[in-house]
Amino acid sequence: TMKDIEGIEDIKWMVDTFYGKVREDNLLGPIFLSQLGDDWAHHLGNMYSFWNMAIFGVREYTGQPLPKHLPLPIDSLHFNAWLRHFNDTLNERFEGPVTEQTKKRAETIAATFLHKITAFRS
Ligand code: HEM
Repeated sequence: TMKDIEGIEDIKWMVDTFYGKVREDNLLGPIFLSQLGDDWAHHLGNMYSFWNMAIFGVREYTGQPLPKHLPLPIDSLHFNAWLRHFNDTLNERFEGPVTEQTKKRAETIAATFLHKITAFRS
């Protein structure tokens, strides 16, 4: 049965499930492997905090995501794959206003990253 995203336990499920798909993706998996190696726990912890801030306004994430993405070898194909896995993950378990807002949030950030990466290269 479907419910909306309601708290940190839902965020943890979302992040763990999403990065499970990303790791298996032929396009995205190798990029994460090359950057993170064995240190997925650290990345997943960052992402729990990031989404807890983005969705519920909990101020514990203090990172700067954009600079970490600027040098990565990624373009619109990668962002499309990223967003597809993100939406697939949410659609597996959640529905409602918070879920829809979260999908829009991811799309907006992805578009911003792509725009800045393109500008950074030129
Ligand atoms: C961190 C890859 C899209 C949010 C990272 C890292 C990698 C990565 C490799 C680890 C960087 C490091 O620790 O050195 C990618 C790829 C993407 C993508 C390949 C798309 C093709 C996104 C999007 C968002 C996002 C769309 C947000 C909606 C973050 C955040 C971090 C991160 C918050 C943690 C940064 C930190 O605080 O250290 N990403 N990313 N990423 N990513 Fe992405």
